[in-house]
Amino acid sequence: MGVRIHSGSANPELAEAVAARLGTTLGAQTLRRFSDGEIHVRIHDSVRGDDIYIIQSTCFPVNEHLMELLILVDAFRRSGAGRINAIIPYYGYSRQERKSGGREPITAKLVANLLTAAGVDRVVCLDLHTPAIQGFFDVSMDHLSAVPILGEYLAAQPRYNAVVVSPDVGRAKLADRFAQRLGVPLVVMHKRRPHPEIAHVTAVVGDVRDTCPIVVDDIIATGGTIRECAEALLAAGACPDIWVVAVHPLLAGPAIERLSHPAITRVITTDTVPLPPDKLHPKITVLTVAGLLAETIRCLSENRSLSTMAPPLDQAVRV
Ligand code: R5P
Repeated sequence: MGVRIHSGSANPELAEAVAARLGTTLGAQTLRRFSDGEIHVRIHDSVRGDDIYIIQSTCFPVNEHLMELLILVDAFRRSGAGRINAIIPYYGYSRQERKSGGREPITAKLVANLLTAAGVDRVVCLDLHTPAIQGFFDVSMDHLSAVPILGEYLAAQPRYNAVVVSPDVGRAKLADRFAQRLGVPLVVMHKRRPHPEIAHVTAVVGDVRDTCPIVVDDIIATGGTIRECAEALLAAGACPDIWVVAVHPLLAGPAIERLSHPAITRVITTDTVPLPPDKLHPKITVLTVAGLLAETIRCLSENRSLSTMAPPLDQAVRV
């Protein structure tokens, strides 16, 4: 069974880097739009019986990238591929993983259903908004984490009187992994959302006076959470030297302007979502997850357990 790496248009640079680490190149395909916006895909080579890895984050524009992924899966299934693996570094629609009010959808489950219906055999994601999303899949699902990559990087950056801050109770477990890795205290904030894109910090649980906080989140979307955190930390006496660590830099709408907040001095993130040049703010450091994905594909293609995987700590810093 040959191993082939393919990519949608969401993050081809990352996919190329993964393929290069595996000593190969991306599989040949044509991905184009008809004049009405419909997506058309053609796989150039025979893939009958092959082990296919499609790398595609379902990031902005989310619906386009999701549909591309589904159509790619369909094309491989109809071409007789042996096994179709969807490698989704950022799983879009994951923030609607439960109903928070009446008459709302559960989009994380809907997307899982769509992928299954399209014909995936396995899904691999990084740092899902909620780990329970794994259970939304009835096909094999591997949930990886970029925390070791980010944690090793942080551990190598001396920081006086640091505390790790979770912006809400939902992120406390994620933040605690960083706090434990760095051996520093954990502080948890309480956040309310009067509207899906507006965040208010209502309480800081823990002492942050004269500390240098490291705020940990899974996603930076509009940057509202981070800005609110920074304001609340300053009000509670923290030093105006706040680092932000987040796995998925969606950086939508006013995010860049909000990250320009003078007390936010560094933002450390990954390339699960590509950052165009206009979003590469000088404060931002991007660590690549290419090594992690390449090792994962190597293990899966050799039918080895992912727990045998060597931690890929070759963090190529991009910016
Ligand atoms: C929410 O629960 C997530 O963990 C992030 O805090 C949120 O998605 C960030 O969104 P924004 O940057 O728009 O505040």
